[in-house]
Amino acid sequence: MTQEKNVDPQLFTDVIEGFSQEQKSLPSKYFYDERGSELFELICQQEEYYPTDAEVEIIKNRIYEIVALLGDNVQLVELGSGSSMKTRMLLEHLNKLAGYVPVDISEEFLLTESEKLRNEYPDLTIEPVAADYTGSFEIPDNPDAKKTVIYFPGSTIGNLIPTEAKAFLKTVASMIDSGDGLLIGVDRKKDRKILEKAYNDKNGVTAEFNLNVLRRLNRELDAGFDLDNFSHKAIYNDDEGRVEMHLISRKDQEVRVGDRIFLLKKGETIHTENSYKYSTEEFSELASEYFDIEKTWVDHRHYFSVHYLSLKTDLTGF
Ligand code: AVJ
Repeated sequence: MTQEKNVDPQLFTDVIEGFSQEQKSLPSKYFYDERGSELFELICQQEEYYPTDAEVEIIKNRIYEIVALLGDNVQLVELGSGSSMKTRMLLEHLNKLAGYVPVDISEEFLLTESEKLRNEYPDLTIEPVAADYTGSFEIPDNPDAKKTVIYFPGSTIGNLIPTEAKAFLKTVASMIDSGDGLLIGVDRKKDRKILEKAYNDKNGVTAEFNLNVLRRLNRELDAGFDLDNFSHKAIYNDDEGRVEMHLISRKDQEVRVGDRIFLLKKGETIHTENSYKYSTEEFSELASEYFDIEKTWVDHRHYFSVHYLSLKTDLTGF
């Protein structure tokens, strides 16, 4: 007897759709089950994974410039909340901070992190919002706020293909007002060797992170992947300007997802993630319909950028 499971219909549909394409694929958002989130934290500690260090360096070294540009009485809205060191730097240095709004899809995570912050900053107004920030959500009304700044660190925008990234920027623009801004971390283009090393760390943590999505499908969809039959690969796709992660089939095999069977040839891949890299010019162009770049900061190796964008003033009618 097979065990009946509580299958997430969206997950099932997404997997079947991804596996029905010529190039098989899985949406990268499914990496982040509990184990996946832990593995991502571990990736951030790997020597080769430069984005974390580079972004921390920028925020630390430029904190006074950043707070001067953002101004006083800001309501800071962080997408994919954060109790990180970078968040703390901002919370501690922004002048007369009107409030902090962490936004995350996982309500449980959000509430425990918010509790921690409340203990550390008892005078700060913290208003967590449990929402999927890839769509629109209501920003809590804050009468003390002179302006709202959306904070989106970590180059998470790089997971979106440019048309989706543009739609995301439009959604952000639609939620804020003239004078408000967006503080965003964006990974830059660079030598492919550095990029490929960052996504193929020698400890194999990224490989484990990539393979873990199959473990999730086995558990949540009653799928039958044998993880030993797959290996991890990350390559820089120069034409598209993105690092791609794939799971390579090590042999001809049949895989079962619920009641569906898919055939994988030896060497065939499942495309599991895109991580787009942008020059300042490219990012400026991407955002230009809705935002002006006020300022760009980079780390000493010029690997990563943090941009402060302000909503275009001639925007109306969202
Ligand atoms: C969380 C999307 C920014 O693309 O670098 C890290 C995820 N994937 N190593 C990235 C990731 C493999 C990460 N982002």
